[in-house]
Amino acid sequence: MVSILIDRIGELVTQDGPARRDAAVVVEGDRIAWIGPAADAPAADERIDADGAAVIPGFVDSHAHLMFAGDRAAEFAARMAGAKYTGGGIRTTVAATRAAGDDQLLANGRRLTAEMRRQGTTTVEIKSGYGLTVADEERSLRLARELTGETTFLGAHVVPDGDPDAYVELVTGPMLAAAAPYAKWIDVFCDRGAFTGEQARAVLTAGIAAGLQPRLHANQLEAGPGVQLAVDLGAASADHCTHLTPADLDALAGGDTVATLLPGAEFSTRSPYPDARALLDAGVTVALATDCNPGSSYTSSMPFCIALAVREMGMTPAEALWSATAGGARALRRDDIGRLIVGARADLAVLDAPSFLHLAYRPGVPLIRTVLHNGVPQ
Ligand code: NIG
Ligand code: FE
Repeated sequence: MVSILIDRIGELVTQDGPARRDAAVVVEGDRIAWIGPAADAPAADERIDADGAAVIPGFVDSHAHLMFAGDRAAEFAARMAGAKYTGGGIRTTVAATRAAGDDQLLANGRRLTAEMRRQGTTTVEIKSGYGLTVADEERSLRLARELTGETTFLGAHVVPDGDPDAYVELVTGPMLAAAAPYAKWIDVFCDRGAFTGEQARAVLTAGIAAGLQPRLHANQLEAGPGVQLAVDLGAASADHCTHLTPADLDALAGGDTVATLLPGAEFSTRSPYPDARALLDAGVTVALATDCNPGSSYTSSMPFCIALAVREMGMTPAEALWSATAGGARALRRDDIGRLIVGARADLAVLDAPSFLHLAYRPGVPLIRTVLHNGVPQ
């Protein structure tokens, strides 16, 4: 097993206590083996000299839609000229995705996960949801499995055509049966123009019965039943949370569902940002993720989301970094990632900056110098 010593670290963010200025890290194989004062560091086979740079946990991007073909740049341009986002464009991507071969779909997923990796992301969740037939959802998840263990069945993204109740029957029956072997999670887009609270409950309970764990797209376009349904079902995460009522806030504060905020979507749909400050002040666990998809948020950059969360959503830089690392891990119910502690996965990033503050302070600047994923320099 190869060991690597990372030393001369300017600032080490572990998410396990305050940032440290004196510390070194030793990685052994795919795990963190030692963290302590640099002066006491044990010998290792290899060395990474951080040269005064900050070291942070790899980002955990807990919400992304990477199984698609084509893009919707023209839809984005129309929005920037005043058109509204409705989610209706999902069907354009569904048509492109169905027409694509397996190789093309997988290559696009690989391109995006590589792009994420270069920006410091070491874990990504990937949803289906642009196939919307039994065969197309199954293959999206089968291919996604080659890219991540965090796969999510989102057959209930929109109703592709025909009768919504008949489509819910398909999703909860044959489509779920075909998807379940390749999926860890089940998700529904519970919002205006997509699925009602009742339909979303039917989809999630069927998924739970099939052994999947629930998470939910909720309250993106309007305040609706999604957030309270998520808490009610003990979902790992309610995602978007853009429009919350006081009752939604109370429900989140009283449950153990993470609120996953996706500021790339508000940026790209020119919508009001979610009120992260209100969520944090109410004691809700908040995660940040990219929502990377060709319609509402075609960014793969967690640093960009951190910068937006700090500038537009009332988060401090430390809160935003926590939400993009340990918070994402909570949203995936994982305790082996998102923090740098002995025994955790050796997933970390060395920044091209002396402090993590630069992630928000220097927006748009590529600040990821080196990424270790499972202990392997990328
Ligand atoms: O999370 N809101 C639903 N799904 C995606 C958007 C998908 C699309 O527009 O293609 C989202 O924003
Ligand atoms: Fe999404």
